[in-house]
Amino acid sequence: MSRYAEVYAAWKADPEGFWKTAAAAIDWTRYWDAVFDPADGPYGRWFKGATTNTAWNCLDRHVAAGHGERTALIYDSPITGRKARYSYAELTAEVTALAAVLADHGVGKGDRVIVYMPMIPQAVMAMLACARIGAIHSVVFGGFAARELATRIDDAKPKVIVAASCGIEPNRLVAYKPLLDEAIAASEHKPSSVLVFQRPQVQAALQPGRDFDLADAMETARGRPVPCVPVEATDPCYILYTSGTTGQPKGVVRDTGGHMAALAWSMKAIYDIEPGEVFWAASDVGWVVGHSYIVYAPLLIGATTVVYEGKPVGTPDAGAFWRMVEEYRISALFTAPTAFRAIKKEDPEGVLIGRYDLSSLRTLFLAGERADPDTVKWAEDKLKVPVVDHWWQTETGWAIAANPVGLGMLPVKHGSPTVPMPGYAVEILDDAGHPVPAGKLGNIVVKLPLPPSCLPTLWNADERFVRSYLEEFPGYYKTADAGFMDEDGYLFIMSRTDDIINVAGHRLSTGAMEEVLASHPAVAECAVIGVHDALKGQAPCGFVVLKAGVTTPRAEIEKELVKLVRDKIGPVAAFKLAITVDRLPKTRSGKILRGTMRQIADGETYRMPATIDDPAILDEIRDAVTGRLADA
Ligand code: COA
Ligand code: AMP
Repeated sequence: MSRYAEVYAAWKADPEGFWKTAAAAIDWTRYWDAVFDPADGPYGRWFKGATTNTAWNCLDRHVAAGHGERTALIYDSPITGRKARYSYAELTAEVTALAAVLADHGVGKGDRVIVYMPMIPQAVMAMLACARIGAIHSVVFGGFAARELATRIDDAKPKVIVAASCGIEPNRLVAYKPLLDEAIAASEHKPSSVLVFQRPQVQAALQPGRDFDLADAMETARGRPVPCVPVEATDPCYILYTSGTTGQPKGVVRDTGGHMAALAWSMKAIYDIEPGEVFWAASDVGWVVGHSYIVYAPLLIGATTVVYEGKPVGTPDAGAFWRMVEEYRISALFTAPTAFRAIKKEDPEGVLIGRYDLSSLRTLFLAGERADPDTVKWAEDKLKVPVVDHWWQTETGWAIAANPVGLGMLPVKHGSPTVPMPGYAVEILDDAGHPVPAGKLGNIVVKLPLPPSCLPTLWNADERFVRSYLEEFPGYYKTADAGFMDEDGYLFIMSRTDDIINVAGHRLSTGAMEEVLASHPAVAECAVIGVHDALKGQAPCGFVVLKAGVTTPRAEIEKELVKLVRDKIGPVAAFKLAITVDRLPKTRSGKILRGTMRQIADGETYRMPATIDDPAILDEIRDAVTGRLADA
């Protein structure tokens, strides 16, 4: 019997009382004046007036409570063959040393620090070291190009950047330092110091006076006490940039107090994890899943987290995840459906699954993109554990909808991430803002205020925050997802209402890719759409119209465009297909019919748009994509 209905009703009856109770899981240095202050910020702030420290709550307090010997972090890197374990006491010592180094480089409360690192323990240490001294980190994913990094440097204005010398992809070494140097050269704002963790695979050249060896500096600082600095509950813990509808990413702000209260609540109620258990979020610290469920949530409750530097397949095979579960007695695994599609493709019968002892695994959690029922059924069938799809966004930091395992699971409906979590009053509205009946598709919105941990605003951009999320449906937060709610209150998330696409669980903006294509001197106009991809869910596909008089062969320009997106946005954009066409289908008012183009590319039946300027263009588009998508 699930306690969900009772718990959700309790939240609805007394939201502030609910979050006040949840906040008891956190140590505060001063209690709040108001659990929620509706007058502060664009829609209000949680735990106003309270002070606390995130590193204390994630580390020191567990050591103080006698759990110093418990494993806090497991590092497993099949890509380098390295493994390590850090107890809570050891991780606290490492974080303290890194905090001392940051302080030596002038970082204090409220200063920003960009962390540009692959999946190594030092990335987690850098994040927690910032939290220890009240600095605000902004982690940048390693798969982004220098230009993306430069945009983030100019927006966050970091005093210091903490980087590694390289990341390691199965097919290549990614030297981070040249990318970083290029980004700093391109940005207006310059950090005063760059701290580089030199990995054995690449020794990065250090610029005297600006660049420093992180490991050496930590060695010198080791043992020096660095107290946890109390910060306001409403102070930012971090900024995480995510794709918006333009090339300018949105700086999602995560506060300190509400963040911890909501994450701690979720660990028990949603993931059903107890202190001391091993929880593995197979994601990357560059994404929100990594922030919330590799770093903060497991450590907040005193569980063991896992930093995995590898892939679901190819490092060395499709049994990689099962080897991890057996070796570390993992209780719950959280990953993106795309990882499972990759495993299923290589090991359709699940032969490798049978070779490992998975008896510790209680639940598989999926998020980041739509969990297609085939993949969910395959995982259920092969793993013989509940598979929980849950829906959330960088903006929220934790699940908007889930099947709360810790409260007792509700019946599973394939294709649905189940029901709204306490804190989220989810409604489905039509474009005019009217509620739609059960089963009917509409805009998914959340009634304000958003619960703790959700973004209070965008970094230095209150107005953009209001414009992007609050303006269209007054009184609500617009998720920019479309979907429906069935008669039982189950949510179904069907698509985005903006130009965001989801490629292998990575959130990307087709608008940003269009900006890059349009910058090519031969391109007159362009449109990028997300087409169906059997492995990655979606893949970007660009259509370009060349300027009159361009004589360079089309194939050559298409190749240049693929390279341009890789160079400007990064390999993670997975932009592999640019198709030259003579014209783009448009409405009579000049709007490009991207939706219809996507339907054509995906081979779906479509209705001829009433406002189309020239219907014949659609046939041209069909002819242009035929064969090209299959080849790609
Ligand atoms: N640093 C540098 N490059 C990176 C990178 C990183 N951290 N992560 C990915 N890339 C590169 C890849 O090497 C690849 O480059 P290539 O074009 O030279 O091959 C490109 O970006 C695209 O990567 P990806 O989309 O991950 O595709 P893939 O084919 O390498 O791997 C999967 C496919 C499914 C195995 C992989 O996407 C995966 O493990 N996904 C799990 C999803 C996940 O963790 N999501 C996070 C949110 S929960
Ligand atoms: P991100 O901010 O990268 O976490 O991406 C958030 C977006 O991913 C959401 O707005 C959805 O479009 C999509 N998404 C995340 N989880 C799910 C899910 N479980 N089902 C469907 N879509 C999802």
